[in-house]
Amino acid sequence: MYKIFETVDEVSRYTARRILNRVEHKPGAVLGLATGSTMEPVYEHLVQGVRQAQVNMSQLTTFNLDEYIGLGATHTQSYSHYMRRHLFDRLSLSEEKVHLPDGMSNHAEQACRAYSQAISALGGLDLQLLGIGSNGHIGFNEPHTSFASRTHVVELSEQTRIDNGRFFTDQAEVPTHAMTLGIQDILEAKEIMLVITGRHKADIVAKLFHSGVDEALPASALKRHHDATIVLDSEAAALLPHQGFNAKATAG
Ligand code: GLP
Repeated sequence: MYKIFETVDEVSRYTARRILNRVEHKPGAVLGLATGSTMEPVYEHLVQGVRQAQVNMSQLTTFNLDEYIGLGATHTQSYSHYMRRHLFDRLSLSEEKVHLPDGMSNHAEQACRAYSQAISALGGLDLQLLGIGSNGHIGFNEPHTSFASRTHVVELSEQTRIDNGRFFTDQAEVPTHAMTLGIQDILEAKEIMLVITGRHKADIVAKLFHSGVDEALPASALKRHHDATIVLDSEAAALLPHQGFNAKATAG
């Protein structure tokens, strides 16, 4: 289902509200979280919403989608640092209940296996939050990743390293590898929300809308899911056909 709003603020408010509804309904929910600039206003609204409604977050468990290999938790561009800055510290989430792939592990394959298993052991993700890369990646699952994949180590594509270079002082500092939840792990979430904002994402949104389920476009895996919502602002939706909005998409 596509849900389209005029502004980034409305997109973020709606997404944060849906997350809060989940947690209010199930305080022990397991959330799959994402990083990136798209999520910053979402987390801002989430923090405000938790404070206003006094939602108890103490039983919540979270698993992040991905992490760079070789950036420790104190590196300002690690996703661990991002999550503490934008969400975990602000909501005082307990350290034992928040999880990110360990990009510093000396036993990466073992760590990846354990990550997917830890999610399954808790009954799976209740809600997975996703952003999208300009090449259609979700998490760090680059084009042509198997839809049957579990948490794994990936070599980042040149496009992704260029896109994410804006956060680093030097392009050469952008890690070459990352750990990411696999597409199968993502598809096993009970509910998925893919949030996409900005004119720079309009091309990939149009491509996704018209695409079939195709491993060349990782986000198209969501078309197999029974409860996936793609939340867009008007800029990201600019190249979509002007009909059928806020309804089940028929293309793809
Ligand atoms: C990174 C992350 C993705 C995220 C994407 C888009 O590559 N691994 O999970 O969806 O960036 O980020 P942004 O929201 O900054 O465009």
